[in-house]
Amino acid sequence: MTDARIVPTTAPVGAVVENVDLSAELDDPTFAQIETAYANHAVLVFRDQLLTPERLIAFTQRFGDIERYARHHYAHPDHPELLLISNIVEDGRNIGLADAGATWHTDMSYVKIPPRGSILYAREIPYLQGQPLGDTLFASTAAAYDDLSPATKDLLENRRTTHSYEGKHARRAALGKSNRKPLSAAEREALPPTDHPVIRTHAQTGRKCIYVVDGECDGITGLPDAEATSILADLAARCTRPDYTYRHRWRVNDVVMWDNCLVQHLAIQDYALPERRLLWRTTITGTVPS
Ligand code: SIN
Repeated sequence: MTDARIVPTTAPVGAVVENVDLSAELDDPTFAQIETAYANHAVLVFRDQLLTPERLIAFTQRFGDIERYARHHYAHPDHPELLLISNIVEDGRNIGLADAGATWHTDMSYVKIPPRGSILYAREIPYLQGQPLGDTLFASTAAAYDDLSPATKDLLENRRTTHSYEGKHARRAALGKSNRKPLSAAEREALPPTDHPVIRTHAQTGRKCIYVVDGECDGITGLPDAEATSILADLAARCTRPDYTYRHRWRVNDVVMWDNCLVQHLAIQDYALPERRLLWRTTITGTVPS
């Protein structure tokens, strides 16, 4: 028995964890309760947390190793484990990644071992007339799987699709949602396309989820190209249905963590300077999707 309370949202994902202070070391029963809630609800929200970088790092490490982000120039200057997500410009350059999450996605599905999840800590939030902007949406890929017909589930069992980093950024650029330069030959070589199961099994609970990202996947093993393209578009659209979605409205000092198998997420970019948005992000190492 612990003092923590898990209060589910009305969406198929998300729960608010109350009565937990992440600035202190969590005892084992409280951590076990949070681990279970993370597996069951996929997105956890902790309000009013006062954390140093060290405490955010220590909390993240309870779930596994921290994965460092390839773009070092957006890391926190004193804590490379923290990625800065921000629209703030200092000395003529963005201090953080400004276009993170601009289209629905699951983090880094283009690598062989995508991260288990990520944790965001809100430091500055943009406002318009007293209302926060820059919400983040999380949609249940498990609910999307559950609602597939038995015939589609059978058809997709044990099939794989290819995820590509280049595809992701080409798509965001085409939608006007990224100003990143096209990949250099060295980057392309370092991040080749990789394939994963179309239907992924959650490592902790065994729940099945659709693991297809809109515009970032190509082909399905054993199916003709035209059929695969149409199925992939349908699966991606199912994953982000509004009725499967929790919308997080940020407050400063919120900590939000999500599971990259059980949800996809989208950052709403409806704000601009002088309204500033700054989040610290840590990323938890995952396992090979199966
Ligand atoms: C992300 O996709 O990691 C960023 C989400 C956000 O900025 O809300």
